[in-house]
Amino acid sequence: MEKEKPFLIGITGASGSIYAVRLISIFAQRGFNLDVVLTEHGEQVFSYELGFKFSLDNLIKYSEKKYKIIPDSSKIRVFDNRDLFAPPASGTANYQGMIIIPCSMGTLSAVASGRADTLINRSADVILKEEKKLVVVARETPLSAIHLENMLKLKNAGATILPAMPAFYNKPSSMEDLVDFIIAKILNILSIEHKLQPPWGDIR
Ligand SMILES: Cc1cc2nc3c(=O)[nH]c(=O)nc-3n(C[C@H](O)[C@H](O)[C@H](O)COP(=O)(O)O)c2cc1C
Repeated sequence: MEKEKPFLIGITGASGSIYAVRLISIFAQRGFNLDVVLTEHGEQVFSYELGFKFSLDNLIKYSEKKYKIIPDSSKIRVFDNRDLFAPPASGTANYQGMIIIPCSMGTLSAVASGRADTLINRSADVILKEEKKLVVVARETPLSAIHLENMLKLKNAGATILPAMPAFYNKPSSMEDLVDFIIAKILNILSIEHKLQPPWGDIR
């Protein structure tokens, strides 16, 4: 896969902000260019769960401390979710794909109904119309019929629905293992090689 084309990451107010941080760290380690957008609730839940306010500086410090990965700040841009003039709002933007991680049922519903009123919603709308990869890391439980219908709508529109649903057959021993199980699934879908999760036959 080409490294020049950036990935777009949308962070919303579902639980699981740590998934976004880990994905950004792994992408940064691989040298990918990244654009990041957070919803207002995404920022709030992020601060609540991780104990620090989202900013590029804080993210880099956290990634260095937790994962020993120092993202290159020149490769990451953060856009305001209200900025519909930002590059991801246009079909001319050359993304490899977009990952909404974690994805709330609110954002999932907005994207499923084509409500392009914020940068995340508009970007997801654009990614789908341009027939690029949209990975929706949905998190909610239990799921209502409305959630399930919205997921089916998005799947039929070309998105990958990848619920943040860690497994236990791989015998996780830490929260990091649980997180990496989901990150590995995302990398698999994007055809990015990794060593986070060995293939089933290789587990001893
Ligand atoms: C601590 C916390 C955790 C939440 N977790 C979830 C969740 O896992 N899934 C979900 O759909 N909504 C969750 N919510 C509710 C969303 O944040 C809320 O619906 C919000 O409007 C989503 O907006 P957004 O999609 O613009 O980020 C949570 C809220 C809080 C305060």
